[in-house]
Amino acid sequence: MKFDTKAVHAGQAPDAQTGSILPPIYQTATYVLPEVGVNLGYDYSRTSNPTRSVLETLVAQLEGSKYGIAFSTGMAAIDAIIRARLSSGDHVLVCDDVYGGVYRLFEKNYRKFGLFFDYIDMRDPDNVIEAITPATRLVWIETPTNPLLKIINIEAISEIISQENEHRDLTNKILSVVDNTFMTPYFLSPFEFGADIIIHSTTKYLSGHNQLVGGIAVVRDDNQRWYYDEQGLNTLNEDLKFIQNSVGAVPSPMDAWLTIIGIKTLHLRMERHNTNAQEIVRYLTNHSKVSRVYYPGLESHRNHDVARLQMRGFGGMISFELDGGLEAGRELMKNVKVWSLAESLGAVESMITHPATMTHVSLPKEVRNSRGISDGLVRFSVGIEAAEDLITDLEQALRYA
Ligand SMILES: Cc1ncc(COP(=O)(O)O)c(C=O)c1O
Repeated sequence: MKFDTKAVHAGQAPDAQTGSILPPIYQTATYVLPEVGVNLGYDYSRTSNPTRSVLETLVAQLEGSKYGIAFSTGMAAIDAIIRARLSSGDHVLVCDDVYGGVYRLFEKNYRKFGLFFDYIDMRDPDNVIEAITPATRLVWIETPTNPLLKIINIEAISEIISQENEHRDLTNKILSVVDNTFMTPYFLSPFEFGADIIIHSTTKYLSGHNQLVGGIAVVRDDNQRWYYDEQGLNTLNEDLKFIQNSVGAVPSPMDAWLTIIGIKTLHLRMERHNTNAQEIVRYLTNHSKVSRVYYPGLESHRNHDVARLQMRGFGGMISFELDGGLEAGRELMKNVKVWSLAESLGAVESMITHPATMTHVSLPKEVRNSRGISDGLVRFSVGIEAAEDLITDLEQALRYA
């Protein structure tokens, strides 16, 4: 089945009792058991819920797997992977331009439990070879990164991990995690390039309308290498479900349902985000006040070739520097009318963010500077409005910059 058909139908069937074309919102905490020790598939909504099950199957199928585990936020999905896989003394390699909230989670929450994180520039896969230690258990990849839109070659890194894993026993193997929030399965299929786990902030493109916060982890299911036990059970999936149930950071049935509805138009929205972004990039690169534009679709982008091979589109995220630095950025953000100055990304509304004071404020200034996140960097999440209106709005706002 093609992606567009799956986005509309996967995991769903008309309701058997009523014919409802949309899956019901099972807004319930518990389920009546027909008799002791017997249930109809569900017993308590922290453990599982039929509306959530639809979402989990839907996103898993879009990513090319059977195993999706939904959470209340993207951060909760990330947290579950750390809990499921790591013990004190373990080491994680993280791409250096990772989302600020991920950096904060790792540094402020997990270091004190004896976990170690190194942040490296993964655009050069050799940096991963050099940084792997005997304690490394996870390689954490965002591609494109947030906010500098660096592109990481998933296949090259998977190959490095496979070679390293040949010398390791079952308990010590390294797993790769790809945060596919920016590209979505419409533009990027990380499992095709050897990734082991995919995570999403479903807050963003998947739900798509700024209507909720949510997250999901998807585990690959075609990999017999090592995380199946003798019964063929995908233990990583089971481990994540165990965390999902025991911690309970689950999406509400309503949020699960809103995400399902959002995904039905994912392919249409992503096409429009992509074409709109390309028009905005063209406008910005020709603007006299813009000194630098970061967008993987630009031929001048350092890893444009990898982006073209790995992705089916370049997405709706753009970052850029204004000549006038922070002050110019402030004027732009103050004067836009159609664009919204807001945290988050991936929704139908076009949004402007100032990473240094918003999404990446949890990174110390020296860390931000060393990674190239200057005070003057502005990030756009291009929505699905008419590109012409977005550009007209930028035109008037940039006069003040
Ligand atoms: C790439 C990326 N991953 C994960 C997250 C965290 O997701 P959430 O805000 O849904 O917890 C974000 C949030 O902005 C993000 O941009």
